[in-house]
Amino acid sequence: MAQAQTISDSMRVISTNSEMSQACREAVKPIGLVPTMGALHAGHLSLVDRARADNLTVAVSIFVNPTQFGDKADLEHYPRDLEGDLELLRRHGVDLVYAPTVDEVYPDGFDTWVDVGPLAEKLEGLHRPGHFRGVATVVTKLFNVTQPNRAYFGQKDGQQTVVIQKLVRDLDMGVELIVMPTIRELDGLALSSRNVQLSPEQREAAPVLYRALCQVHTLWMNGEHNGDTLRDAARELLRAEARVDLIDYVSVAGMMTLSELKRVDGRAMASAAVRMGSIRLIDNIILE
Ligand code: PAF
Repeated sequence: MAQAQTISDSMRVISTNSEMSQACREAVKPIGLVPTMGALHAGHLSLVDRARADNLTVAVSIFVNPTQFGDKADLEHYPRDLEGDLELLRRHGVDLVYAPTVDEVYPDGFDTWVDVGPLAEKLEGLHRPGHFRGVATVVTKLFNVTQPNRAYFGQKDGQQTVVIQKLVRDLDMGVELIVMPTIRELDGLALSSRNVQLSPEQREAAPVLYRALCQVHTLWMNGEHNGDTLRDAARELLRAEARVDLIDYVSVAGMMTLSELKRVDGRAMASAAVRMGSIRLIDNIILE
């Protein structure tokens, strides 16, 4: 407790990229970066704690990145709680918080984009065109500003982790990526900043997403390797839940290519996205 207090007293909150770059240049290495969009929950904090254990300096970015939102209303309603976030980060011993404005990240005349290619056009990319271009661009900028040795992401955004691995490899960024397991509520619902937007009825129904993926996992463990059969089993469970308004996709895909598998022999990712009213939920399970 006393140690956390001492560390928290020295947390710096920075809003300009020049000051953040300088702070990171002067910081004791290695630096671990946890990129976030704020509204922090236990999933984010598990990344922060791992970064704290692995590195001498821990930096967290809080930036609701407008370029990864297709839908203006979704961006406007995205939960924000900077003061609450800073309090949590202080308690978890973070050294540097980077919380820039939109103009600081995307000043007038900003024109350079990072396009990750076909991986970014599947699954989430198909349903949220331009999403991963926004993610890859902002992550590149965050890495450039902070020059981290390691960066921490949650498995909850499975495709994002694959896209960022590719980005780092293709552009020789030399950042070690650490992907941490999804943190779940007791009923299986993956923690997400968006969960607070669910009505009580939607919240009650939401764990069906995880149950559908668990069903895929169980069938696969029991020897069912046909991709279509696995996808159909998950779809059937999701369709049976009246409060699921739309199934965007159910996927059982290769880990590196994210291409749908006919037969699931090697490591694969089962993932799905559904809509409940205006809320979109995603989740995934690794078959290994
Ligand atoms: O996962 C997120 O919160 C965001 O996509 C990220 C990586 C912080 C980029 O804005």
